[in-house]
Amino acid sequence: MNNLECYDFQPELGSFHDEILQSLAQSKKAIAPKFFYDKRGSELFERICELEEYYPTRTEIALLKTHSQEIAQLIGKGSLLIEYGSGSSTKVRILLEALQEPVGYMPIDISQEHMVQASAELAQSYSELDVIAVCADYTQDFQLPPYSKKPVNKKLIFFPGSTIGNLDPTQALHLLKQSASLLDTGDGMLIGVDLKKDPAILNAAYNDALGVTAEFNLNLLERINKELNANFDLANFRHWAFYNEEYSRIEMHLISLKEQTVAIAQIPFHFHEGETIHTESSYKYSIEEFQELADRAGFDAPQVWTDANHLFSLHYLMVR
Ligand SMILES: C[S@@+](CC[C@H](N)C(=O)[O-])C[C@H]1O[C@@H](n2cnc3c(N)ncnc32)[C@H](O)[C@@H]1O
Repeated sequence: MNNLECYDFQPELGSFHDEILQSLAQSKKAIAPKFFYDKRGSELFERICELEEYYPTRTEIALLKTHSQEIAQLIGKGSLLIEYGSGSSTKVRILLEALQEPVGYMPIDISQEHMVQASAELAQSYSELDVIAVCADYTQDFQLPPYSKKPVNKKLIFFPGSTIGNLDPTQALHLLKQSASLLDTGDGMLIGVDLKKDPAILNAAYNDALGVTAEFNLNLLERINKELNANFDLANFRHWAFYNEEYSRIEMHLISLKEQTVAIAQIPFHFHEGETIHTESSYKYSIEEFQELADRAGFDAPQVWTDANHLFSLHYLMVR
């Protein structure tokens, strides 16, 4: 396939081992959610997206479909599309169908195998499009690989899935500033942001009846067992997710069901009964709160779309 290029910035080289050991040595144990996405984790996330309770995916897809022509008008001809956390590159297809002669697509994801497979499928579907797959950690400072095959009229960073909610507001501001620095004045960012709402809807979304989210959360321990020679007994931990009103975030934890010691790379880690590992936060914003954050990062917010029930928002931001 001659329209596909891959760059590997080796975002996890050494870091999985070091970060896990550091994270679990803290008095409040917490692991960054970026480590969920080994091959199995990425597959489980795809299943979460199809769950009845998990409204964000279908709501965002409906927003993209409804407004794809307006989005295409805002972006114009000859764009380079850069997607953070592209996963299976499903949502971007809605944009690619609507955009006028996009020249390139640059998916950026930490989960290399999953991304390269999705990029190859996309490159096959869109033979006129240059696909430049980048394995990188977008929370670290990084440069985009050079692209000069065709003239680019506008760059657009696409960041769907409310994945920005996995960062706390300070980290989210940093990511938005870093994004603005990769773009030029007039370039855009299209970003999906989950909205504050009735906590009952939020609690259900992260505690699905089929237990897929629980499996996704526990898979992190399975990954540590496999890759770091650890001996977590998954039966001794349980998924726990709840909406924390004070911080406007869903918190996902793994709770130790008993007093126990686990060895990771031959180093012992002690867990009290009821102690937790905080594995993910998912911050919820009002439209105004998110626009204010974007403004502080150097973006104007000329357009926002939301669904009739105000579950989810899709923001079009423009670099000042
Ligand atoms: C919540 S999923 C969203 C997937 C897809 N964009 C969607 O909207 O359904 C998060 C995606 O971001 C990737 N990811 C998470 N943290 C990352 C990081 N720090 N750097 C790069 N990719 C990351 C994961 O591998 C996964 O594909």
